[in-house]
Amino acid sequence: MFYIVKLMRGSKTRVEWVGTLLAAITLFTSLACDVERRKSDAELGLTPEQAAGRRIYDANCDRCHEPYSTRGKKGPGLKAMFKHQYLRLSGLPANDERVTDIIRLGRGEMPGFSQALDQQQLTDLLAYLHTL
Ligand code: HEC
Repeated sequence: MFYIVKLMRGSKTRVEWVGTLLAAITLFTSLACDVERRKSDAELGLTPEQAAGRRIYDANCDRCHEPYSTRGKKGPGLKAMFKHQYLRLSGLPANDERVTDIIRLGRGEMPGFSQALDQQQLTDLLAYLHTL
């Protein structure tokens, strides 16, 4: 009798252990998906101009906009922003002119970057935004 109880205890513990392990794996997987490893410029196939634009994006835009997701931060995620006819949030046409205006002048909570970025930087940034 004592033996059976001990055996049951033993197997229960094992089941619990497997449960814990599964929970840990699930948690790890969901975290791993969320914090995806940052791809290198080469992996993304960026030209030197687009790579320069990515640096500018990282320094000025990344804190408010996810580049490879539509998930919002302070501003909307910019994934595939030029792949559609209209910008997702404002509904403005998704073209270089409109987007350059938004970056230069700002919009709502977004500051303008006309002082911070010169024409070359804007051109590089636009080239990168087209790769999203
Ligand atoms: C302080 C946070 C912040 C920073 C920094 C910022 N933005 Fe924004 N951005 C926003 C917010 C908030 C909006 C939404 C504005 C609105 O329409 O009310 C927005 C809107 C936009 C839009 C229009 C999106 C749409 O769907 O209508 C684009 C494009 C954009 N930002 C690009 C950029 C780029 C490129 C940079 C870097 C040069 C940048 N933003 C920097 C907060 C920011």
